[in-house]
Amino acid sequence: MVETVNLKRAQELRKLINEHNYRYYILDAPTISDAQYDKLFRELQNLEANLNEIPADSPTQRVGVTPLTSFQTVKHITPMLSLDNAFTFEELENFERRNIQMMGKHFKTFSYACEPKFDGLAVSLLYENGVLTRGATRGDGSVGEDITANLRTVQTIPLVLQGDFPKLLEARGEVYMPLNSFEKLNMNAIANDEKPFANPRNAAAGSLRQLDPKITAKRKLEFYCYGSQVIEGKALPSKHSESLQQLKNWGLRICPESNVVDGIQEVQAYYEFLLNKRNKLPYEIDGMVVKIDDVSLQEELGYVSRAPRWAIAYKFPAEETETQLIAVDFQVGRTGTLTPVARLKPVNVGGVTVSNATLHNMDEIARKDIHIGDYVIVRRAGDVIPEVVRPLIEKRTKNVKTIALPTTCPICGSEVVRIEGEAAARCEGGLICRAQRIESIKHFVSRKGMDIEGLGEKLVEQLVSNSLIETVADLYTLTKDQLMSLDRMGDKSANNLLNSIEKSKETTLAKFIYSLGIREVGESTALLLANHFSFEELKIATEEQLLSLPDIGPVVAGHIVLFFKQKNNQVIIKKLLEEGVQWSTHKSTNQYQPLAGKTYVITGTLSRSRDEIKAQLQALGAKVTDSVSAKTDGLIVGKDAGSKLTKAQKLGISILDESQLDKLLSS
Ligand code: IVH
Repeated sequence: MVETVNLKRAQELRKLINEHNYRYYILDAPTISDAQYDKLFRELQNLEANLNEIPADSPTQRVGVTPLTSFQTVKHITPMLSLDNAFTFEELENFERRNIQMMGKHFKTFSYACEPKFDGLAVSLLYENGVLTRGATRGDGSVGEDITANLRTVQTIPLVLQGDFPKLLEARGEVYMPLNSFEKLNMNAIANDEKPFANPRNAAAGSLRQLDPKITAKRKLEFYCYGSQVIEGKALPSKHSESLQQLKNWGLRICPESNVVDGIQEVQAYYEFLLNKRNKLPYEIDGMVVKIDDVSLQEELGYVSRAPRWAIAYKFPAEETETQLIAVDFQVGRTGTLTPVARLKPVNVGGVTVSNATLHNMDEIARKDIHIGDYVIVRRAGDVIPEVVRPLIEKRTKNVKTIALPTTCPICGSEVVRIEGEAAARCEGGLICRAQRIESIKHFVSRKGMDIEGLGEKLVEQLVSNSLIETVADLYTLTKDQLMSLDRMGDKSANNLLNSIEKSKETTLAKFIYSLGIREVGESTALLLANHFSFEELKIATEEQLLSLPDIGPVVAGHIVLFFKQKNNQVIIKKLLEEGVQWSTHKSTNQYQPLAGKTYVITGTLSRSRDEIKAQLQALGAKVTDSVSAKTDGLIVGKDAGSKLTKAQKLGISILDESQLDKLLSS
């Protein structure tokens, strides 16, 4: 009797959980909180623990317990095809022209389904009577590998379909690793001294090839469905785009970026839209797929060898390319850090010519095993500095040379030291080193610092090379004659510059602290310090006093104390103050901390920088963290907010736009 009741409740729960999975993963519109979901899930697990039989399609049964010893092969019902590529608009036009010709003279144009080209792995999913019974890789197109146990661990692949699904359905789509899972996986690998994956695609492939599905389950893969065939049951709609909607109704996840357009010009517009969006998507894509939407036209056009005539992959310019590493130079930063920079044979990467790329530090060079003379893969993504991803070992010759850290600074000749446990190597020259001097002056005059208008990087370099200034303090004794002696400096520009230097003397304590360039003291730490100490207090603050502030750890505290202890810094500060640099002295917000105990997260694009907002919130006592959790009190959202917003909505956390934020800050 009890058993029948439990059995019934278990069935009820499975249905309920599947429905909530559908709302969460497929519709992206959950109706219950994570906590409520977890409660249902635990109730089912507890019930099932006492049942004799648990159906394989129960939502609790995603991760199999026994690892496989090998993968079985699977013959695909119909071959899994590949796509021809177009790399230019011209090639895309050729694709349309050929198809129009094949349709006959009077044919005008096609409607196209446009989709992202996901950079993952093609898989085939077989649903028998709505239950996932087999999942396979593409393999050579005819025969793949049975990876059902691994695919079952992918949360966005439904174990059971819903609605009036056909008796036998094969869904095809791409399994990929989202960028955040990829980053976590690689961070972990590095922490464990394992080799990280080169890109999310390789990581996804490696994860699907695990014999133990428990490992795959941890990798957080996702799935988008991009096509299907009904093998038994009512046929799909006559348009590809409508079929996708149908598949969504049956519970398969389809990509919201997909769209239908008319003619090749509109395809181009979609391509540009997607290219723009590329770096904002939480997964990697390498182009778009263009498909003639009308299935009867697809059938008329048919196939050539292994690719359909009715579809084409319109690829984005590669963001990874091969070139040769010619030399390595070491750049000296503001705090003396030596960064190895690869000088490359110039190469076009994603539409931009790249001849320099960062190698990060010596540990990275060793880990990636990079040598001078190697052929290497370089990558650029969005606005980030291009980087050397890996060498092509198979192309390595005997003539390659090891990259050695110089023992002396390439700029000033001072000793270079590497501190135990730190990746960075540092020039010990301090402000003797011209590179450090130039970088620290650039930092001092920057907008977040003393904000000296009209004093750009080039001009700073000129001033230093012409020995007109040595330290930041010398800026305030520059004369008009000195400025006029510089190349291309006219009377008017010299006057303007002197004016903005003069104007910069009137500053705030926070900006002044920031501009000093103390290691690891950025904008928000500077503000925090300014709110808690007067400058006189800060100069003599002990590590203990500094550690009592939120967000200041022993490393930063150490840097601050050391900075004010150094003689040359004391001399520069004294001179700056003598020359009239000043700020109003009342510690405005020191005691007034109305947001103490509150935690905020900032997301999306706002009219001012996140650092600035963070600093303002912190000044009022709030904590600012990176991820939304139940402990978050408010989410500040700007334009194009993504998953953080969804999560906050799900958790019922209060959401503030910029004007609400301003109200909060001013109240
Ligand atoms: S349709 C006959 N749609 O690209 C059409 N493929 O180069 C077959 N891919 O093996 C595929 N995103 O792994 C299609 N939206 C998309 C896709 C896509 C990525 C991959 C797929 C396929 C490869 C072909």
